[in-house]
Amino acid sequence: MFTPIGSAEATITIFMDDMPIPARPGETIAACLLRAGLSRFRTTPVSGAPRLPYCMIGHCFDCLVEIDGVGSRQACLSPVADGMRVRTQQGAATIDGVSPS
Ligand code: FES
Repeated sequence: MFTPIGSAEATITIFMDDMPIPARPGETIAACLLRAGLSRFRTTPVSGAPRLPYCMIGHCFDCLVEIDGVGSRQACLSPVADGMRVRTQQGAATIDGVSPS
């Protein structure tokens, strides 16, 4: 789906739902996870339908994930960092298990 430009090496590791994924410094979480072949980043709050990044420029919000314990973060705008913990966002975001409404 994605062809890397140049010969960047995946020299760091992020974790998606506790699964280690090689990452290239400077790339976004969305680019990294799509390259790894993930089939969903989040589910919708109403129907539970799976969603993947669509626009890759911060407009559609289909790439929302939990990053290091903080929900509703846009994976397409967030650069990877070594050891980063990313989780699939199930429905609406919560703070310590409580919906922030
Ligand atoms: S992919 Fe559209 S906002 Fe991230």
